[in-house]
Amino acid sequence: MYHSVPFTEPGAYEPSVLASYYDSLHFSDLSTILDKRTGMHAVWRYDDVEKILNGTDPAVSSRNTLDPLTPFPKFATHLKAIPHIAHLATVPKAINNAAKATHTTVMKAMFARPRGLTLRPDSTRTNFGAMINRRAEAAADALAAAAAGTSGAVDFESVVARPLASGSISELLGFPAEEEGRIKAWSDAHVALLARIIGRRDRVANIRGLADLSRGCRRLVAARAKEPAEDLASHLLAQGLAPKMAASALMTVMVAGYSSSFGGLLNSTRYLLSDEGREHWDMLREPERVPGMVDDILRKETGVVAWRRYAEHDVTLAAGSVVPKGSSIFVMIGAANRDPQRFPDPHAVLPERRENNGTKPVTFSAGPHQCAGREFAKLAITTALTTLRDRFPDMRLVLPDNGIGYAPDYMLRTPQSLPVVV
Ligand code: HEM
Repeated sequence: MYHSVPFTEPGAYEPSVLASYYDSLHFSDLSTILDKRTGMHAVWRYDDVEKILNGTDPAVSSRNTLDPLTPFPKFATHLKAIPHIAHLATVPKAINNAAKATHTTVMKAMFARPRGLTLRPDSTRTNFGAMINRRAEAAADALAAAAAGTSGAVDFESVVARPLASGSISELLGFPAEEEGRIKAWSDAHVALLARIIGRRDRVANIRGLADLSRGCRRLVAARAKEPAEDLASHLLAQGLAPKMAASALMTVMVAGYSSSFGGLLNSTRYLLSDEGREHWDMLREPERVPGMVDDILRKETGVVAWRRYAEHDVTLAAGSVVPKGSSIFVMIGAANRDPQRFPDPHAVLPERRENNGTKPVTFSAGPHQCAGREFAKLAITTALTTLRDRFPDMRLVLPDNGIGYAPDYMLRTPQSLPVVV
């Protein structure tokens, strides 16, 4: 049956509109729909989503996760013919859409001690805590300076969320400070290709942006091959990854880490400063309740509302419906995180929910491809929120009457601005 996933329509990501849409999915008799505009089969029930993501169903693969949502125009399928983007044809699949053996090798290098990413809160803090604290304080300084220079509202998106995410991800990877400004353009180009239905002109511009991102990562790897430093680029080379593979891995980490982090921070901040979230804003001062609370805010307010998988064979869902072989599956993480069968009172933030309930949200996916930066992301977002609460206890939203506007993305829920006064 044909339907339209509404995410790219104006207002669809507004909190109350999104909540009603998720309710309508969960209270319907269906468990999959065919999205008219993209041809993807959407799946939203927690049990289906978790099983499709967790890698145990041999009918499902990850081979399409980084494909462009709007297929490349014909000229770009002959990448080698166009000098500026020719080298994209030589970018190996390294992580999210790679074959199992390559994925295993790259992730082993990514998680190797001492400088790799880690999935333990204590070692994440040891490796990255000082940098994250310094970046959060700098973001708070920038907010204070912007507020001092105006009698009106300050845009939290451009003053805090974006620079904080691009600064910490570029420092993690090893980009010098002067390149930080470029990360927005590079990552936005990649995200637009992945998550947006775009016309020919935008596709061309974004393919060029993707090529710039790839070139930037290759430049960094080449520099670190000559002169290693304390960063992820040097670490991947030291673990024996070939330079092209290391550069491709860095591309994924940068885009996965940047856009999801600032989207998550924006959605969380919007919730915390709203009338219903205010008690949790104040709860940021109760350290023992903060981890559970941030976990549940990210469950409800995740910026990554969907991801993709491919049906290598017919995929049978829990209720018996079938997603046919050869389909792209639109895996609705945000909806699964609000499945009332698994998360009673799904639109409420309950800091003790996980302890009481035990169901793990799929915010960071599940199985072998689950987010490699999840501990980094949780530490970065928690540190940002607690720092901001300490520095600006009276911060509040100044929402325009016509809403704040969200990027027209299928898979990422990202406010385009967030006016606040402090
Ligand atoms: C709140 C912030 C974040 C959210 C919600 C998030 C969520 C996700 C999701 C849903 C996936 C897809 C996994 C799949 O295909 O099953 C993913 C993959 C990934 N993420 Fe994150 N992420 C966040 C932040 C980060 C950060 C900060 C980094 C890096 C420092 C990062 C690195 C990655 C990588 C490398 C992958 C690919 C993993 C693989 O295929 O094995 N993410 N993330």
